[in-house]
Amino acid sequence: MIKIDNLCKTYNGITVLENINLHVAKGEIISIIGASGAGKSTLIRCINLLEKPEQGEIYINNTAILDSKVSVSDIRKKIGMVFQKFNLFEHLCVIDNLTIAPIKLLKQNKKEAEEKARHLLKQVGLLNKENCFPRQLSGGQKQRVAIARCLAMNPEIILFDEPTSALDPIKAYEVLAVIRKLAKSGITMVVVTHEMNFAKEISDRIVYMHNGRICEIGSPEQIFNNPIKRETREFIYKECNFNYQINGSDFDVYSLNSEILDFLERYSLPNDLMDMISGRIQYVLNLLNKLSYTMEITLSYFKDKRLVKLEMTSKGEKFLFQMPEDYEYKRKDNKNILETYFEIRDRRKKSEEL
Ligand SMILES: Nc1ncnc2c1ncn2[C@@H]1O[C@H](COP(=O)(O)OP(=O)(O)OP(=O)(O)O)[C@@H](O)[C@H]1O
Ligand SMILES: [Mg+2]
Repeated sequence: MIKIDNLCKTYNGITVLENINLHVAKGEIISIIGASGAGKSTLIRCINLLEKPEQGEIYINNTAILDSKVSVSDIRKKIGMVFQKFNLFEHLCVIDNLTIAPIKLLKQNKKEAEEKARHLLKQVGLLNKENCFPRQLSGGQKQRVAIARCLAMNPEIILFDEPTSALDPIKAYEVLAVIRKLAKSGITMVVVTHEMNFAKEISDRIVYMHNGRICEIGSPEQIFNNPIKRETREFIYKECNFNYQINGSDFDVYSLNSEILDFLERYSLPNDLMDMISGRIQYVLNLLNKLSYTMEITLSYFKDKRLVKLEMTSKGEKFLFQMPEDYEYKRKDNKNILETYFEIRDRRKKSEEL
């Protein structure tokens, strides 16, 4: 369906895509992950002819689309794109946003286009919003309209560029639910995302990009649980865990708490864990001489065991004070390591207990 051969792209002489090779089969769902600046957006923008690479070739159904004789609008009819910032037509109401392209480019009549648009709005849960203007919608609703608008063109491929990164977790969840449903419909999708759990769940394969190159491609299981390349391992570890450096002199408990909350929300974990985690960190800090330490805080979530592990590591002399029994103390390479665990209780069980 999509075949990318030796693609290279530079901006002002700086290489941002280097020798990209990728095949995407019909119906396949590929997620592209990687650090900011890795080239993820540039790659999918090249597929949609929004960027012009200097070298290489892209084939869509065996048509070499970079060929100057190929009609850009014909290619765009096949490939839909959903952007981080929605890109709706602000001066058009929802239904007109959905019908303008099918009427102009696919030559559908107004009635036919509106029927299809209503069907799609129903699919994304927004049937009652057809006469609203984008400014009257929440971010999550705008993005669902953008997805419906894309589907109105009957694309064979949809490219998503961080469709949820401008949204708060609840609105992101609504959009992810729509994409999840779409993934089951057999359409070919390439999704650039920072939502690791989502990528893991919906994708057939994961592409990890690093410094303009494809560093590793594999199944979600391989990339998330057993990455081969060092760069992939480092990225996955960082993305799936929480790291926070405490420097005694400028420790800010509010910033720590808000980062813990972000971590909990990322995994849909109960927010009230924040106080417990923060409390245990502060308990240890109180035992230490506050102004003379640096401490590395790591949180890891073990989904299968329903546990969150808190690890506190600091260099220096052995701790001499007695730790409460819910902390495990280890000493390794001149470092003090304290570990403690939090059990994630099932909400249902919790209410039964209450
Ligand atoms: N129009 C442009 N002009 C010049 N440089 C650009 C342009 N667009 C992107 N770049 C550069 O190309 C590199 C890759 O950018 P790209 O937007 O593809 O990264 P990304 O992986 O999508 O990052 P993010 O996760 O932050 O969206 C970056 O170094 C960026 O600064
Ligand atoms: Mg990007």
